[in-house]
Amino acid sequence: MQSISNTLQSYVKAALLKLIDESDLPEQLVVPSQNPNFADYQCNAAMGLARTLKKAPRQIAEDIVNNLDVDEICEPVEIAGPGFINFKIKTSYIQRRVEKMGADPRLGLEKTANPEKVLVDFSSPNLAKEMHVGHLRSTIIGDSIARFLEFEGHEVLRMNHVGDWGTQFGMLIQYIREEMPDALNNPQDFQIASLEEFYRAAKKKFDDSEDFANASRRAVVDLQAGEEKTLAVWKVFCEASMKHCHEIYDLMDIKIEDRGESAYNNLLPVVVQDLKDAGHAVETQGAIGVFLDGYKNENDEPLPTIIQKSDGGYIYATTDLAAVKYRMLEEKVDKAIYVTDARQKGHFDQVFKISELIGWSKPGALKHIGFGMMLGKDGKPFKTRDGGTIKLKDLLVEAEERAYNLAKELSPDFTEEEHKAIGRTAGHGGVKYSDLSHSIGTDYKFDWDKMLATDGNTAIYLLMTYARTRGLSRKAGVDVNDMLGKAELILEDEQEIKLAKKILSVLDIWPSVVRELTPNLLLSYLFEIAKDFSTFWNACPILKLEDQKVKESRMLLAAMVARVIEWGLAMVGIKALDKV
Ligand code: ARG
Repeated sequence: MQSISNTLQSYVKAALLKLIDESDLPEQLVVPSQNPNFADYQCNAAMGLARTLKKAPRQIAEDIVNNLDVDEICEPVEIAGPGFINFKIKTSYIQRRVEKMGADPRLGLEKTANPEKVLVDFSSPNLAKEMHVGHLRSTIIGDSIARFLEFEGHEVLRMNHVGDWGTQFGMLIQYIREEMPDALNNPQDFQIASLEEFYRAAKKKFDDSEDFANASRRAVVDLQAGEEKTLAVWKVFCEASMKHCHEIYDLMDIKIEDRGESAYNNLLPVVVQDLKDAGHAVETQGAIGVFLDGYKNENDEPLPTIIQKSDGGYIYATTDLAAVKYRMLEEKVDKAIYVTDARQKGHFDQVFKISELIGWSKPGALKHIGFGMMLGKDGKPFKTRDGGTIKLKDLLVEAEERAYNLAKELSPDFTEEEHKAIGRTAGHGGVKYSDLSHSIGTDYKFDWDKMLATDGNTAIYLLMTYARTRGLSRKAGVDVNDMLGKAELILEDEQEIKLAKKILSVLDIWPSVVRELTPNLLLSYLFEIAKDFSTFWNACPILKLEDQKVKESRMLLAAMVARVIEWGLAMVGIKALDKV
């Protein structure tokens, strides 16, 4: 469904085409008005066209208006100041629009006309350790972006490019060789009680002993060369590690397919050969590298992107190049989006440039989304009290516990089951929401109290707003959702009109949210709608109304708000609850 501003835009465009050529047409013709008391939308094209048309802007504005037929949509159009055209939307038009939107389960948001196959590379922790808060943002942001694209109608591959092939495994394998040689003979019986403890013990040895560290590095080579016993032990680690990751994903209601770095092992030499054959990769100080334009070291000398080390080993970039080649050429994805820490920007810039150079990807097909850090309340990296990393599992458990306690405090009369459901949803959802309500690229401070504030831009506030509409249904004895597509909307009170306009503005906001991939803009919109609903709720009684038509109309508004919130929360992976 077209938004009102787009509808007006096409009317103004038609009027302007009677005055000027298509090529002289400004791109943006209609914008929301800065002063809603005065107008809903405004066209300021007349000022910009004075030169082209050699006329006074006010005259141009009049010419536009004379060619404009928007009676059905707007009150009589007004020209103001030097040549602004002001549009005030007719209430009857808003009514019809909202009614139509309510009849559509997709809220009038159309699927894309050009569905693509899009791979989202997210979460992707390095294995052999438990997931910690450092993995949180990629997991949450990636999942939400995948949800956006799925809703748009794209085919989305949710990809977990786990680090299952690096030095850390050499260390674990070497530890087993030295400390528990039996395991190597009977890998089928080998089990790990605690990944974390195992990792810590091996890491200690690695840091303490030079010999062990060197042996560990050699062990990676054995692994990558496919030595059987080494591989068997490696598998046990990976499986234990992946099992742990999926416990977290399940808790967070996140779907993702695992395809770790090791999957590209056989492609690595091929990728290096391809780049050599194409003349892009050359030998440099014993290693193989690609010299990209504009990459210089501090002495202004050309700086290569290394793809094979002098000892023959491959690195992070080689694997990513192999992954691009496979994804683009074999898997035939149209786009790949990588969600990682902003500090990896340089790495991805180089990988993308090389991939384009050799023709594995087209310009714009690869995109890196770099996120900022999650900081503690004090603005320092988010850590445990004694400076350790916080395990993701612990964070989620604490979130759930805090939300559960809050639910008990706010609604002592709810059942234990209901308190628990709120704990899970507002807890895990709260962690997601507080992350996504900040712009992706910047650092943000994580604060438990803010996350659970019942009057802010938070998951709990939105969940409560949604639940209020469900409570209304219970009290009214009819489901407000039954009004969707049936009841007539009658907008009289100022707050009703304001709310109805806010509902319609999702049609303007959503396209820019998916285009720019900005969950925070979606969440600010949800917050605004919830606030407007609250004002409406206080100003406009519903249950005690005598007039059945007005009552149904207001219930319809409530149902629309519920639908928008339910949908919006689903886009960030949060399920709305009937009772909060
Ligand atoms: N494992 C990497 C890390 O923990 C992230 C991988 C991101 N994806 C990729 N294709 N490089 O930093």
